[in-house]
Parts: sequence; C-alpha cells; structure tokens
Amino acid sequence: MPLAMAPFGGWGALAAFLSLLRCRGSGEKAFEGPEQLMVGSGEFQFINCTASCMDPKRLVLETALNKTLLESQTQWKLFKVYNISKDEELLCSSTCGGKQETKVFHITVFYPPKQVLLTLSPTTVAVGTLFTIECRVPAVAPLECLNVTLLRGTEILCNQTFVGTTLSPQDAVVTHNTTAHREDGLYNFSCEAQMDMRSCGGGLVHRVSDPQRLEVKEPVPNNQTGIIITIVVVPLLFLVTSVLLYRYWWRPRHN
Ligand SMILES: *[C@@H]1O[C@H](CO)[C@@H](O)[C@H](O)[C@H]1NC(C)=O
Ligand SMILES: *[C@@H]1O[C@H](CO)[C@@H](O)[C@H](O)[C@H]1NC(C)=O
Ligand SMILES: *[C@@H]1O[C@H](CO)[C@@H](O)[C@H](O)[C@H]1NC(C)=O
Ligand SMILES: *[C@@H]1O[C@H](CO)[C@@H](O)[C@H](O)[C@H]1NC(C)=O
Ligand SMILES: *[C@@H]1O[C@H](CO)[C@@H](O)[C@H](O)[C@H]1NC(C)=O
Ligand SMILES: *[C@@H]1O[C@H](CO)[C@@H](O)[C@H](O)[C@H]1NC(C)=O
Ligand SMILES: *[C@@H]1O[C@H](CO)[C@@H](O)[C@H](O)[C@H]1NC(C)=O
Repeated sequence: MPLAMAPFGGWGALAAFLSLLRCRGSGEKAFEGPEQLMVGSGEFQFINCTASCMDPKRLVLETALNKTLLESQTQWKLFKVYNISKDEELLCSSTCGGKQETKVFHITVFYPPKQVLLTLSPTTVAVGTLFTIECRVPAVAPLECLNVTLLRGTEILCNQTFVGTTLSPQDAVVTHNTTAHREDGLYNFSCEAQMDMRSCGGGLVHRVSDPQRLEVKEPVPNNQTGIIITIVVVPLLFLVTSVLLYRYWWRPRHN
C-alpha cells in the first residue's frame, strides 16, 4: 500500500505541523525529538523502536492499538501497528544502563479519497443546451492535498485544487456547467481524484469514478419536423382515404 510507504521521515514538531498544514516541506531530518507520521485512515504503520545501547533491558512499544512484532534484534524491534483511525501518540521505551529512554511518534490520520462519484444532470440533453457535471469526493482531508479533474474521454474539462487547512474529513465537490455538443455523446465522462501526501510522509492516492455517458439529442428542429408531419401528412392521408372510399362506395349505386 502506498499510504504507509514512508514511515521514517523525521521532522521537528513545528516543521512537521507546518508541512502538514501546507502539505509542503522538504522533510529535513531531526535526529532527536518526536517523529511525525501521516497515515491514511484505517491504514497501518511500521514503527522501528531503537535503543541507544547494544543491550537494552526492556524494549517495548506502548500503544492501545493492535500491533505485531515483525522483526527483532538486540538493539531494535520493528512493529506493525494496525487500523489507525484517529490521531495517536505511540511511545517506544527501553532501558539502557539503568536509564529509561523514550521516543514519541505522533501519528496524524488523513482521509484519502475512497470514492469518486460523478453525476451528469440531466443525463439526456439536446444539442446546445446546458448540463451540469458534478464530481463529489466524500470525506477527504486535508483538502489542499487534493486535485479533482473532470474528463471527457481523455480531455481535461476542468481540474481543481482546494484551500482550507482543516484536518477533519469533508466532501470535496466540483461542478462544471457546460453546453452539450453533438460529439459529447461519443465519449465517457469521468472524474479523477488525486491526493498527494508524499511531502508529508504519506503516499499518493489516485481514484477514478465510474464512467458516465451523456445522451445527446438533436435539437428542437426535430420536434418541428414531427409536428409538420402530423399537420400535413395526417389530413392528406385522411383526404386520400375519403376519396378512395367515396369511389368504391358510391359508384355502384349510380350504376
Ligand atoms: C531499525 O532501526 C535501526 C537503527 O536505526 C536500524 O539499524 C535497523 O536496520 C532498523 N530496522 C529496520 C527493519 O528498518
Ligand atoms: C485488535 O484485534 C482484535 C482481533 O483482530 C479485535 O477484536 C480488537 O477490537 C482490535 N483492537 C483494536 C484496538 O483495534
Ligand atoms: C478498526 O478500528 C475500527 C474503529 O476503531 C473498528 O471498528 C474495527 O473493528 C477495527 N478493525 C480491526 C480489524 O481491528
Ligand atoms: C490542470 O489543468 C492544467 C491546464 O488546464 C494543466 O496544466 C495541469 O497539468 C492540470 N493538472 C492536473 C493534475 O491534471
Ligand atoms: C450550474 O448550474 C446550476 C443550475 O443549473 C447552478 O445552481 C450552479 O450554481 C451552476 N454552477 C456553476 C459552477 O456555474
Ligand atoms: C465507456 O465506458 C464503458 C464502461 O466502462 C465502456 O464499455 C466503453 O467502451 C467506454 N466507451 C468509450 C468511448 O470509452
Ligand atoms: C494538482 O495539480 C497541480 C497542477 O498540475 C500540481 O502542481 C499539484 O502537484 C497537484 N496536486 C496533487 C495533490 O496532485
């Protein structure tokens, strides 16, 4: 999973906080202090607990979350922590030469796009009339790390970035009003959402909506043709029928 690919990037607390908000930052390494990690909601994280000495007495990872020990050496233990659904602090502790050492991992949960919902309304339009393309990406955060692109076939109709620094998940919505062209009926419309958390210790998440077709009808003249047919042809048929009936019914009587 790309979401938990970069588990060991270390920053100072402030630098990490700022990069979290701006989703930028080059990831300067801080040797000491807490480590900042970003994890997609419900994802896992590898934690490497390391002691400063070669023969630590007790090397543990303290967390209420489910974890498994993947690998163990005298100086370090590698854990996998599962199902991280909210911001957490994990604590590695060890005892070296009678002194206790701790290291804190701050885990910030982000909400990658899980669904991309595309709606065309109406789904049937006449050439030259307006229709709306709406793309909704439910429950994502942080929004400023998200790009939403509306596509007709492979052509980009619109792409949008977002502002807002809140870390609580919310829906991202893009609407695009456009006029129907005859060729719109030949392509699939789709919507792509991309969240880039690579600069903050997360991954790159990419999701695409189901394709949607637009049914494009010929414009109003079609209807007029129908009306003309009704007005002209029906009375004509009636007339012809009447004439024929007259001939067949009345001629014998006169004879
Ligand atoms: C854990 O960290 C120690 C010390 O930095 C390192 O030597 C070791 O290779 C790491 N283990 C893994 C599995 O990355
Ligand atoms: C840990 O896993 C067990 C079984 O897989 C589950 O019942 C329990 O709720 C999990 N605990 C947490 C905190 O997720
Ligand atoms: C993951 O966490 C959620 C909420 O904390 C819980 O409902 C779910 O059972 C957990 N799943 C596993 C596999 O532990
Ligand atoms: C967004 O559109 C612009 C031009 O319209 C393009 O240069 C850019 O690469 C697009 N970005 C994405 C993520 O598609
Ligand atoms: C698109 O049109 C709808 C009504 O047809 C309107 O409510 C909406 O604000 C329009 N959106 C944009 C982005 O122009
Ligand atoms: C549109 O999408 C459908 C369903 O995925 C696919 O079968 C069809 O080939 C696509 N058409 C075009 C023109 O891409
Ligand atoms: C969004 O698109 C812009 C322009 O193409 C690009 O610079 C930026 O990296 C993209 N962001 C994400 C999160 O994909």
